[in-house]
Amino acid sequence: MTAHITENPLRQPITPAAPSSEIAQFHLRMPAYSPTLLFDVPDLAGQLGVRRVLVKAETRRMGLPSFKILGASWATYRAICDHLGYEPEPWRNINELAANLAHLKPFKLATATDGNHGRAVAFMARLLGFDCHIFVPRRMVEARIQAIRSEGALVTVVDGSYDDAVARSADEAGPTCIVVSDTSWEGYEDTPARVIEGYATIFNEVDDAIAASGLDRPDIVAIPMGVGAFMAAAVTHYRQPGHQATIVGVEPLDANCVQASVEAGDLAVVPGPHESIMVGLNCGTPSPIAWPRLSAGIDWLVSVDDDSARQAMRDLAAVGIVAGETGAAALAGFTALSADPAWKAAAADAADATVLLLVTEGATDPGSYAEIVGRGHETVGRVIAVR
Ligand SMILES: Cc1ncc(COP(=O)(O)O)c(C=O)c1O
Repeated sequence: MTAHITENPLRQPITPAAPSSEIAQFHLRMPAYSPTLLFDVPDLAGQLGVRRVLVKAETRRMGLPSFKILGASWATYRAICDHLGYEPEPWRNINELAANLAHLKPFKLATATDGNHGRAVAFMARLLGFDCHIFVPRRMVEARIQAIRSEGALVTVVDGSYDDAVARSADEAGPTCIVVSDTSWEGYEDTPARVIEGYATIFNEVDDAIAASGLDRPDIVAIPMGVGAFMAAAVTHYRQPGHQATIVGVEPLDANCVQASVEAGDLAVVPGPHESIMVGLNCGTPSPIAWPRLSAGIDWLVSVDDDSARQAMRDLAAVGIVAGETGAAALAGFTALSADPAWKAAAADAADATVLLLVTEGATDPGSYAEIVGRGHETVGRVIAVR
């Protein structure tokens, strides 16, 4: 197994503005919202040589197999408010919101995706009764395309990479179509900023579970990175006073655009093809609005090969946690980091640390999951959750 490890030379003390408490209230009104589970996993702690490993498992979030709906739902809502020029209140649940927005129809949401974000946007469009057009890169596997279609969206396969799909989706914006992208470009920043804000709910849930169970706050947090929007939310949370943790970002070796940018000292592009099985992380360019938080806030960057992700999926299955290829990246990355001499020298106290791993998706490609893990995801039993 191969890994590339960088201690971030651009790291600086920052205190990003904390997101508004309105977001939690918004998510509470979403269908089937409830906090996802936090697991305390002694077997992984033993394996990694740390005091405690906590796993926040986004295997099932509002009925979808990844965390992405948290950002997509909030960003869609705020973009609609901007489009209307007012907030479509009052509404207590999604049906009432859909009724308040019915006058907009026919109306469309569009975005590009590597899988999970697009499915989440398609899910929002279906709930609101809007049309939806999702653009995917050429090498997207059929199971993921079908999952997006199952939400009623039109899926267009773009002959190119994820970055090409992003460029194509941007052309859709118009008087009856909102583009809900999780990455930003010049002149398109408000909606991807809202996507980042929406992810705050995950970290607030972790805090609540830790407070309720009397565990220690994490000393080290490992986060998978694609365009870096999720990491920007992690940096926002774990750079607040009283929440400081060592932040580790994980990418695939051939799509390590955040690591390459940190090494170059500025935003850099990692050209495709990006062929990793960690498909949610197959991005060639970090989101420009995330970059200030990525460059100043991350402590260590780790890129790993696909075999590391496969092994992490099996390790998580062995302790009863279902993680898809992308979802297992945090464990794959922290496993590689733990063995690194520079890390061992810098983090001499890691043996006493509580490590939080963000498992950001479940079995988003069930066939591939069964092949890698050796059994279907539905047969993986649960360990007991902290909360
Ligand atoms: C399951 C999963 N984890 C992590 C990420 C990375 O998020 P971001 O692109 O915001 O860095 C993605 C992105 O699609 C994803 O699908």
